[in-house]
Amino acid sequence: MEISNLPVNALSQPVRAALLAAVERLTSEPELRGGVILGAGRTFVAGADIKEFGKPSLAPLLPDIFAAIESCPKPVVAALHGAALGGGLELALACDARIALPSTVVGLPEVTLGIIPGAGGTQRLPRLTGLTTAIRLICSGEQLKAEAAHRLGMLDEVVVEDLQGAAIAWLNSAQAGKRPVSAMRVPEEAPEDIAKAEQAALRAGKSRPAVVAAITVVKEASSTPFAEALAHERAAFLTLRASPEAAALRHIFFAEREAARLPADLQQTPRPIRTVAVIGAGTMGSGIALSALEAGYTVILLDQNTELLAKSGDKLRTQLQERAQAGKISTAVAQEAQARLTLADGWAGIALADLVIEAVFEDLAVKHEVFRQLDTHAKPGAVLATNTSYLDIDAIAAATKRREDVLGLHFFSPAHVMKLLEVVRGAHSASDLAATGMAFGKSLKKLPVLCGNGFGFIGNRIYNAYRTQCEFMLEDGAWPEEIDAALEAFGFAMGPFSVADLSGLDIAWRMRQARASTRDPRTRYVPVLDELCERGRFGRKTCAGYYNYADGKRSAGSDDVVRAIISEASAKRGIARHVLTTEDIQRRALIAMVNEAAQILTEAIAQRASDIDVVLVHGYGFPRWVGGPVQWAREQERKYLERDLDIIAAATGFGFVRGDLDILLKKTNEDNAS
Ligand code: 3HC
Repeated sequence: MEISNLPVNALSQPVRAALLAAVERLTSEPELRGGVILGAGRTFVAGADIKEFGKPSLAPLLPDIFAAIESCPKPVVAALHGAALGGGLELALACDARIALPSTVVGLPEVTLGIIPGAGGTQRLPRLTGLTTAIRLICSGEQLKAEAAHRLGMLDEVVVEDLQGAAIAWLNSAQAGKRPVSAMRVPEEAPEDIAKAEQAALRAGKSRPAVVAAITVVKEASSTPFAEALAHERAAFLTLRASPEAAALRHIFFAEREAARLPADLQQTPRPIRTVAVIGAGTMGSGIALSALEAGYTVILLDQNTELLAKSGDKLRTQLQERAQAGKISTAVAQEAQARLTLADGWAGIALADLVIEAVFEDLAVKHEVFRQLDTHAKPGAVLATNTSYLDIDAIAAATKRREDVLGLHFFSPAHVMKLLEVVRGAHSASDLAATGMAFGKSLKKLPVLCGNGFGFIGNRIYNAYRTQCEFMLEDGAWPEEIDAALEAFGFAMGPFSVADLSGLDIAWRMRQARASTRDPRTRYVPVLDELCERGRFGRKTCAGYYNYADGKRSAGSDDVVRAIISEASAKRGIARHVLTTEDIQRRALIAMVNEAAQILTEAIAQRASDIDVVLVHGYGFPRWVGGPVQWAREQERKYLERDLDIIAAATGFGFVRGDLDILLKKTNEDNAS
């Protein structure tokens, strides 16, 4: 039985119908002695068809098909390659044996979609692995390579070749026969180990509803008859599937894949890239170099500070070794990557590079100097990329005589960890540069998002609007810890003032100073950050910022100095400080993001609304389970969005620009594949 529903053989309704028919045929035709289930193309089965989730379920349902496989009197083997995920693994678990190629990955990633396995995974997996492993795997959605899954008892055999032959051989072997997993007993484990696994899963999974439900249902595997527990699993699955959280997670799943798509005129052949030069051996440059080395590129790291360069080279070699020790890459890859790294302290070093990425100090004059050198030393046709996070790509490109080769590649720190990459086209960027930047990003296993050139591109522009609104709230009456707590309660990884302290206030201070001359004095400006910096409070690195870090730990509240600075700012503006509730804070911060997102869409800085959500979720700690600011806005009643816009318009005063909510709330086929 070959399942063919490319690209990933998702179990959509026609596939389910055909599979059930095949099982019925196997059951009824006497000359058939057993069955092998295979996937066509590059993979076994990636699970249920997520696109069907927003719609009513259509028969036959997966649990019924799996029951038919188990009750079929003839043995059925699942032959796995590529991915056996979610419903795909559940299908394999309903078979009598599972045989896989070593490269196969298996897992139950349903919690990442806000649901739990809904076709027996919570009951069959623990019968093979025990409760503690099943809780860990189902609550994290972790995907395992075949060998690891074999060790845990999930697979019967791993074969290096002829998967189909091995499956048929199993059917002909002495061990062939009916071995329904549902009839097995869950292996005994100490109750305290199960409790520990449960606590760890809740912590790691932030006690999200799917995680809580998964634990309850998985534990039933050892306490409740199979059929009854299966019914509980299905009920929990259906309830979760209909939740706004699951809708948001599906939205972001499809948005991530959609983000990679370029408009027709930019779908061009990418320029070939083998050698990458990185200018600047600081944290960002080194992180980019590490990513490129791991992806197989030859890397030239250039810095005129020879001491920093040597240190960075040593660190990169150590990091590669450490990643090999941690099993993230093989030892052979680590050694070979070390050999692909060259250190250069002069511009002549970049002559061979197909792509140069500048990651130097964020200052236009410094960037200009670098780009003049790139113009002189880079080979014709090389892509000249800047990692600027705010500056105007066109202004940077103006330092060269080849503006068409200049592109923004905005990495996020730490660059070898963060998946987001903003690919920024300048007004003069050649039409093949977007495809080149996107292809390069994908080769680094990143999530590239195309942006237009404008202050802060997508992410920093929205974050800036959000942080500015939070500063207004400081002046209006809230303390830093109240704002941080409200936004952390909403789900942000960290509140804005904790983030500011972590990344250092001096960077923002310098930028404010650089822009001071262009600031209209009529715009509302909160001087708190400047005051803090003037007193040497640059954040964590100086043990003081919006908070105190006297003992290395963040103080519970902002200290008296900070409160005095904030109160003085309020008094100077003539504000009688008043209480802002958690909801006031959350809605003002969120609507500021939404308003900026609407402007970004109008200005075509973002190609599509869902790209904005991808950027905020992956680069700024926006809670994934809310789906991003656009998805959040689409879940709100329009009248409340309008009311909140009025509130921030009044709080902002002069110069407030109201975004067009219609453009943001309008769902298109492109940004609403879910
Ligand atoms: N349903 C519908 N479409 C799916 C899908 C699914 N389960 N999985 C992938 N797709 C689509 C993608 O949207 C993409 O479509 P596009 O080309 O139009 O953008 C296409 O298939 C290819 O997917 P990727 O770009 O992700 O391909 P990769 O090769 O990078 O990755 C994969 C393959 C590892 C299988 C990855 O697609 C994946 O992780 N898929 C989701 C797996 C999953 O979450 N399964 C659980 C589903 S829920 C479930 O099974 C419930 C059950 O318990 C009842």
